[in-house]
Amino acid sequence: MAGARQRPKPRGADTAASGPAAVLANAFGFPCPEYSLPKKLFIRTYGCQMNVYDSARMADVLAPLGYAQASGPEEADMVILNTCHIREKAAEKVYSELGRLREIKQQRGGGETPILAVAGCVAQAEGAEMLARAPFLDIVFGPQTYHRLPEMIARAERAARKGGRGAGVLDTEFPSEAKFDHLPKASAGAAAAGCTAFLTIQEGCDKFCSFCVVPYTRGVEFSRPGQAVLAECRELVDAGVREVTLLGQNVNAYHGAAPDGDDAGATWGLAELIGRLAGIDGLERIRYTTSHPRDMDDALYDAHGSCDKLMLYLHLPAQSGSDRILAAMNRGYTAAEYRAGVARLRRMRPDIALSGDFIVGFPGESEADFEATMALVREVEYAQAYSFKYSPRPGTPAALLEDQVPDQVRGERLQRLQALLNDQQQAFNQRMVGQRLPLLLDRSGRRPGQLVGRSPYMQAVHLDGPEELLGEMVLAEITEAHANSLAGQLAGRSAGPVAVGAMAASATSMEQTI
Ligand code: 5AD
Ligand code: SF4
Repeated sequence: MAGARQRPKPRGADTAASGPAAVLANAFGFPCPEYSLPKKLFIRTYGCQMNVYDSARMADVLAPLGYAQASGPEEADMVILNTCHIREKAAEKVYSELGRLREIKQQRGGGETPILAVAGCVAQAEGAEMLARAPFLDIVFGPQTYHRLPEMIARAERAARKGGRGAGVLDTEFPSEAKFDHLPKASAGAAAAGCTAFLTIQEGCDKFCSFCVVPYTRGVEFSRPGQAVLAECRELVDAGVREVTLLGQNVNAYHGAAPDGDDAGATWGLAELIGRLAGIDGLERIRYTTSHPRDMDDALYDAHGSCDKLMLYLHLPAQSGSDRILAAMNRGYTAAEYRAGVARLRRMRPDIALSGDFIVGFPGESEADFEATMALVREVEYAQAYSFKYSPRPGTPAALLEDQVPDQVRGERLQRLQALLNDQQQAFNQRMVGQRLPLLLDRSGRRPGQLVGRSPYMQAVHLDGPEELLGEMVLAEITEAHANSLAGQLAGRSAGPVAVGAMAASATSMEQTI
């Protein structure tokens, strides 16, 4: 087919055209140039930043097997859809994408057929059902098993592929071994987009909000040991990273084991971890997401007041402003408690930018409940926020509630809430005009000569400047505010090492589709 990459087959080895062992050595144990031709990997990532991190780590796991990044599924030897199950139609979207990939697989045929895999939360939720519905699939694996990918690929390659059927390898366990202990070192190329990187410190969730699939797809809460997080962060910084975003489904529930030398059984909370990370020379900025209002502890509030490397932005999902709905959601706080948390943060950092998530049309939500959400939003004044129509997720308690809100009402409420949030975002951005903001320039813009960086408040700022400034902290004078970004002019450079080398790694074959 057009664009398909033809990889020469190894001499006399038609049945062993690829495979983990093949990239390392031929039958005589010597490196074989034909066998070690790079294979191509294409990962399409859906959903949250955690999935973006996971995709990067999958690429890290596969790099030693000779997989390099492909620019599209057509030229790939392996295609992974890393899926998200948080809201409606996720599985249907995956199946329709799989339909397109099946055509690619059929057109390529013979020894050139790519391995097709589905990863992430849809894979976890659907499991064997997915293999039954898409029998051409080779591998289905969940978020907790991707360290076992080499083994799964070997099994897939061993399995006979007859009549266009896939290998049907399934691994959706919650294994007893810790995934992070079995992953290779995070490469700056994959885990980091140049000078910024995601770093997963916590996974899973025990909160069981009544609308949410995460506790079922990602499993129970797990925190990585403090030492492991520090080590990964140091590696990233050595590779040129200057800003890390600490990730977790419920990141501020973090309670990682303290290193040996501390009291036996001692744990670090998120504030303690942030304090340690802030001590790493060369790391300039720390962010974290996503947090739960109930897990904001005293130390974390204090860290926002005292840690200069902790950015002036917090994503703190409220979900609703109605106490009745918050209770039905099993969120564990009232609107007044949420407001008190916001007030406390603003006492620490008056200009902290707040973001959040909201669900409208949760079962039983009356007009008065929705108005309570609008009132909360008006009061808090978000710099930016995400809002969603409630979508019943199979297996969650809220999906069984009887008083589901009609779709039309959900849609209409969503429009009203989004109009308010958009106005607030526009107003917040407008307030930046005329200010000087420090930026970490992390990528090139669309226009030649244009660079893009993030403000401490998380806004994307576009300005003109020389390519050499990529990876540097600069000062920008803000000249224009747009709905989702700012424009500015270079107003100075800040001292510090230049990490231009790391920028070459920012090209990625991963796509993110929210
Ligand atoms: N319906 C709508 N939105 C949801 N979210 C999670 N589950 C659902 C659901 N069933 C939203 C929440 C959460 C964000 C990641 O997605 O607002 O914070
Ligand atoms: Fe889902 Fe977040 Fe609630 Fe956990 S805290 S169940 S991840 S919405």
